Amino acid sequence: MSFRSVFVAVTVAFGLILGAFLVNRARPRVEIEQPTADFVRASGKCAECHARLQYAVVHEYEMSAHAKKGVNCLDCHQPAPGQQKQEHHGFVIATHLTAGNCRSCHEEIYQEFLHSRHAAPSWAAVYGKAALSPEQVAFSEKYQPGGTDRPPNPLVSKEGPSAIASGCEQCHSIGKPNDDGTIGTCTECHARHTSSVALARLPTTCAQCHMGPDHSQIEIYNESRHGVLFAAQRQLLKLDANPRTLTTRDMFVPTCATCHMSGINGLKVTHDPSERLSWYLAAAISTKRPNYLQAQTNMKQVCVQCHTSSMINRVYSEAEQVVASTNSKVLAAKAVMDGLHKDGLDNGPPFSNPIDFTYFDLWHYEGRTSKHGAFMGGADFVQWHGNYGLLEKSVELQHEADELRRMHGARE
Ligand code: HEC
Ligand code: HEC
Ligand code: HEC
Ligand code: HEC
Ligand code: HEC
Ligand code: HEC
Ligand code: HEC
Ligand code: HEC
Repeated sequence: MSFRSVFVAVTVAFGLILGAFLVNRARPRVEIEQPTADFVRASGKCAECHARLQYAVVHEYEMSAHAKKGVNCLDCHQPAPGQQKQEHHGFVIATHLTAGNCRSCHEEIYQEFLHSRHAAPSWAAVYGKAALSPEQVAFSEKYQPGGTDRPPNPLVSKEGPSAIASGCEQCHSIGKPNDDGTIGTCTECHARHTSSVALARLPTTCAQCHMGPDHSQIEIYNESRHGVLFAAQRQLLKLDANPRTLTTRDMFVPTCATCHMSGINGLKVTHDPSERLSWYLAAAISTKRPNYLQAQTNMKQVCVQCHTSSMINRVYSEAEQVVASTNSKVLAAKAVMDGLHKDGLDNGPPFSNPIDFTYFDLWHYEGRTSKHGAFMGGADFVQWHGNYGLLEKSVELQHEADELRRMHGARE
């Protein structure tokens, strides 16, 4: 072999190696590095069957941050402590997954979630504390006083199990106590296989539950300046930006998550939205929360990443005036109801008289809507869906009360 041909052979060989290196560099890391047995076993094996059976499930997983970081099917699907095991094509998997399957890697977030009203209080709002352990009740009460230590909602027995299971429970199961001793599910906001912050940051994700006349948050948001800008500029926002380095350059229009959970410009991300709430707005008569000052400071700190503090203080002071005026309107209606109870004119079980519905709708629909609208930029909800209804229902309530008294007088 001549010197020249050796030179050519070496050059070609080098070229091939270099070429292979360059091609490899463009490949995902898992293909270059020796894949772990676990990865081949779990991801390769599960996906092999399931891509044929449920393409959508496997594809959602493939697009996830988990797939990119090598978190595989079995990492989530293996039985967590306390879970039922099931033989499955040579693997052992859990039959039902819970927050317990996420906490192994996201413990801190799970703990924060446990402090929130999305955990035990959500469930107790419907079914009461019966299915929760005394420890779970005591733990939640420390962070959310009165949230969990309570009886079932009267509507549960009134409407019957099927209505409650397909109705209330679909939203309130975000805090369902699980058989494995954990509470709730993380997949209501992240979905099961997408596991994405981009999804969780979309208003439509929260709107699965935060909608309708009793908690019109999505309707209010959609008509607010923020919602209008979001609809117009959504494609310019970096919805998938890393939560730990998120800035107002990524998200210059806020979504529900921005105000209630995100940590923009170095603020702390939270899985407990109560950290930024100063009033119990959902209550019939709104009172200040125990952490009123701190919580209000926390939320205002979010607003001032995009606004001046004088503007934000104005919004808050106007909204707090709406809270005070709504409270006095609901209190006037409550005084009428208390008077009927005292005189024995409406003493049946809850929801047995038309006037019970008038009163409930008055605070639960119109009252709440006025207050929520005032804080989140929904003028129409403060006015036409809110205060106008409050006025109408107050007149109706008084009329019904007079009628009850008249009938009672006639009977005597
Ligand atoms: C040989 C093919 C095959 C393999 C490998 C396989 N599965 Fe399955 N899987 C199925 C089939 C078929 C079903 C439908 C129910 C059944 O027959 O078990 C199923 C059902 C499931 C279900 C639904 C179970 C239920 O009761 O609702 C889950 C979850 C699941 N598989 C996860 C996995 C995971 C995770 C792996 C890997 C650790 C895996 N599968 C490996 C074929 C497979
Ligand atoms: C981030 C955790 C996670 C990962 C990773 C994951 N899953 Fe799942 N998967 C879930 C959860 C949560 C459920 C809902 C289980 C339940 O109903 O309790 C689920 C449900 C399923 C189901 C039933 C789906 C249905 O709609 O009937 C199948 C099948 C499944 N997973 C297969 C897979 C396969 C295959 C992989 C890997 C390609 C995978 N999963 C990776 C969390 C995960
Ligand atoms: C085996 C460990 C493990 C398990 C189990 C696990 N994760 Fe993760 N998760 C990770 C890792 C690693 C990342 C990537 C973190 C990073 O990018 O720094 C991640 C990232 C995420 C993200 C951020 C994704 C994004 O778009 O940036 C979400 C949301 C998430 N996980 C939710 C879940 C949920 C919900 C479950 C349970 C159903 C779960 N994880 C189970 C390890 C895990
Ligand atoms: C569409 C989803 C959805 C349905 C269905 C639903 N809720 Fe709710 N519920 C919510 C949301 C969201 C809130 C939070 C409202 C707020 O803070 O403004 C809430 C708040 C509550 C509250 C006040 C908060 C508390 O902890 O006291 C109670 C009580 C309640 N719901 C009970 C029920 C009952 C009982 C049913 C069925 C008869 C039901 N809900 C049906 C989503 C729902
Ligand atoms: C009420 C909706 C909601 C629920 C329930 C929820 N998350 Fe999140 N999660 C979010 C939002 C919104 C973000 C993004 C915050 C931001 O904008 O930076 C997020 C971010 C994350 C991240 C990325 C955080 C980081 O620092 O990289 C992980 C991991 C995560 N969630 C895991 C979980 C786990 C585990 C659970 C259950 C214990 C859970 N989430 C329950 C809404 C939710
Ligand atoms: C699966 C249903 C569901 C989803 C999805 C959901 N929530 Fe909730 N949320 C609830 C329920 C139920 C409550 C009422 C809990 C209670 O007080 O009993 C609630 C309460 C709240 C509260 C009031 C907490 C308090 O301390 O009073 C805020 C704020 C909130 N959610 C924000 C969000 C945001 C932001 C998202 C989306 C990132 C979201 N939620 C997604 C069901 C949901
Ligand atoms: C611009 C910031 C901002 C946006 C965007 C926003 N909120 Fe709010 N939200 C607030 C403020 C401020 C309050 C009242 C805080 C307080 O009580 O101090 C509030 C109150 C609430 C409450 C009432 C809790 C209670 O006490 O009853 C819920 C629930 C809620 N928001 C959910 C949502 C949802 C869901 C979305 C998206 C559809 C959303 N918010 C969008 C700022 C925002
Ligand atoms: C991520 C950035 C961001 C955050 C956080 C934010 N906003 Fe905004 N907001 C905007 C933008 C952008 C506009 C439109 C500004 C403009 O037209 O100059 C706007 C507009 C408004 C307007 C309408 C102003 C007008 O009259 O045109 C109000 C009121 C408002 N925001 C209140 C709030 C409150 C209260 C908070 C906190 C609870 C908040 N915003 C949080 C970005 C934000």
